[in-house]
Parts: sequence; structure tokens; C-alpha cells
Amino acid sequence: MFPDGFLWGAATAPHQVEGGNVGSEMWRSEWMPNSTFAEPSGDACDHYHRYPQDIATLAGLGLNAYRFGVEWARVEPEEGYFSRAALDHYRRMVATCLEHGVTPVVTYSHFSLPRWFAAAGGWSNPAAPDQFARYAARLTAHIGDLVPWVCTLNESNVISLLLHLRVAPAAAREDGLGLAEALRAPAPAGTPKRGGWPPPDVEIMAKVHRRAVEAIKSGPGNPAVGWTLALIDIQAAEGGEQRQLAVRQAAELDWLEVSRDDDFVGVQTYTRERVGSEKVLPPPEGAATTQTGWEVYPPALGHTVRLAAEHARVPILVTENGMATDDDDARVAYTRAALHGLAAAVADGVDVRGYLHWTLLDNFEWTSGFAMTFGLIAVDRTNFARAVKPSARWLGAVARANGLV
Ligand code: BGC
Repeated sequence: MFPDGFLWGAATAPHQVEGGNVGSEMWRSEWMPNSTFAEPSGDACDHYHRYPQDIATLAGLGLNAYRFGVEWARVEPEEGYFSRAALDHYRRMVATCLEHGVTPVVTYSHFSLPRWFAAAGGWSNPAAPDQFARYAARLTAHIGDLVPWVCTLNESNVISLLLHLRVAPAAAREDGLGLAEALRAPAPAGTPKRGGWPPPDVEIMAKVHRRAVEAIKSGPGNPAVGWTLALIDIQAAEGGEQRQLAVRQAAELDWLEVSRDDDFVGVQTYTRERVGSEKVLPPPEGAATTQTGWEVYPPALGHTVRLAAEHARVPILVTENGMATDDDDARVAYTRAALHGLAAAVADGVDVRGYLHWTLLDNFEWTSGFAMTFGLIAVDRTNFARAVKPSARWLGAVARANGLV
């Protein structure tokens, strides 16, 4: 069993489901001549228009929470210009959740960035904390009274994780994240480094986050505020003990410590990586892997939740966990096993407030395009028709029982 009031739901990110996100840097990257994207996001799942149906479906399944993101590029398509229409749209989304008894968990930035922001250097631009805080303040003024949970940044550590592990854990695709832009952009006068700005490290991202938290806390409502982290279960293979500790410290623990001043930390876990003396090892021979090539390793959730609790010392919300597969039974088996690990952590006293599965809809998996199917609900891309998968009904039954079924 899980604690009373436990949040059971699914998560999405705006660029991956909304469609037509033309003001974002990601859209531009997708259409570049030598784009690394398998295909462009295009209309995606047309969730921008179909959210009423999608939220109703989620609620009908028995789920009681929905994590979705606000697209900064829509709300502030040009620096300093805020679109009232876009803000109203997201307020309607929040209101729709509430009408269905669904708790909204709102992410303010999920990888995709406004073009103007990326072009100026992205997160590494010294102006970034002020720019993001201004957006966060404006958005909170518009929806904060209705929103109980806010995630400022999605997987703020993902670039760091990528650089340390030298693997792409998820959506860590340089261009999409603005990393290439940041490295290319001319540094402003007085910047000690030559040839561009550094990748956004923990110091930079913590500053961005902190300023945003202040802005959100000064607005209406009283949301719990935190950021989400990509927590791969980083394990030591033989001879890799020192390296594992160093990588984990830099890519995860330093970031978890930032959460100590927050209301919660969002944990996002998919798999493990084993670190040898020289490098990250491939999945063990014979191990099952997902469409993304990651090892199917459900204990990762319990492990990383415990790690997060130990180092962040604040309540935990599982903001993403899932697998890319066309075998829906495998999705249920993976999730069931992951939830066993989560239940065990809860039984041991870890304060976990909810579990939000990645993801509600089969969607645009960044550079991999639409071929990766992480969704609880399939989407026919010719007409946007939705088809609920058995895994969605199963997770809904778990939610209704507030425990494994
Ligand atoms: C990201 C999602 C992504 C998922 C699967 C997470 O790291 O937040 O946007 O789709 O992993 O790759």
C-alpha cells in the first residue's frame, strides 16, 4: 500500500506532445539541413488542442495526477513579450485537471527553449537566471493560484550526466538542449573563457533554479516547488569503484544537494549504467533492452529514490519512470517491478508523494522521433486517434487500489 493521498498519474512534456511549437529552438534544430533528428516534431499528438480529451481519459482510467509542461517559447515568443492567449491556454489546462479531480504538476521548462533565449547562449548566458525568473513570475501570476506542484526545470543535470557518462540517458541531445548554441555563442565582454560559454553546470543551473523558486514563491498560491533530476542508477562494475563514485557525485549527488532548500525533488529513473575502470559498460550480455537500447532494469527506481532521499532530504515525487517498448505486457511487468522497489522504499520510511509514469501518449522522443513508444496510450499519427493500452488500465487499477494489483 502507498500513503493516503498518493499521486498516481502520467507525465508529458509540451514539445513532445503539443505540436506546432514553431517558436522553439528545438523546432529550428529539427529543420536544419544536417539535423540530427530522425524526423521533425510537426503536429506531434496535437495535445495543444486535444488536452481536454486526454485529461478526461487519464481521469477515467483512475489516475489522479497529471504532470505536463508549459512551453516557454509560446508564453514568451520574443524576449519580454508575453502572450496572454498562451497563458490563458495553460490556465485552462490546469482548470481542466481540477474539474476532473486530477492534481496538476506543472513543469516550467522541459528542455525546449525559446529561440531568442537559445540564440543568446541559453542557460550559460549570465542573464539566464533573470530571464527565466521573469518568465516564472509571469506564469505564476497567471496560474499559481490553481497549481499545487511546480517543477522549475526538467532534468537540470542531464547535460552533466551526459558529459560524465558519455551516454545519452534520454533527451540529452546537444542541439535540442541548446548546448551547441551555448558553445557557439560569443561570450560577452569580460567573460574569462575564450571561444564560448561553458556547459551549464550545477552552479549555473542552481542559480537559475533558485531565482525561479523565489519568483514563484512571491506569486499567488502556495505551490510546492522543486526541480527534477535524471537519476540513472549508476553502479560500479569490477574495477570501476572510484570512477563510479566520482561520476555519481558530479552528475547526481551535487545536484541532489541543491534540492535541500526545496519542497521536494522530482526523481526520473529509467535504467542503470555500470561504470568500469575506463568507461561505461554496455548492458550485460543477454540482458533485455528497450527500444532506446537501455537495459530493462526496474530496481533502478527503488535504488535512486533511496539515494535521492538520503542526499536531498526532502519529500520525493517520482516525476518520470517508464520504458520504450511495443510490448505492452513488458511495460506492465517493468512498471510492476519498479513499483515493488518503490513500495519497499516507502515501507522503509522514504517520504514519496507520488508516481507519475512516463508517458501518457506515444510521442515525439526528441532526436529519435516517433518510433519510440513510451506511452500508456497509442496515437494514430494520421488522424490523432487515441487508443488506450492495457498498461494504462492496469496503472489506473493500481491507482484506484493505491497499491499493486
Ligand atoms: C525526459 C523525457 C524523455 C524521457 C525518455 C526523460 O529524460 O524528461 O522528455 O522523453 O526521458 O527518454
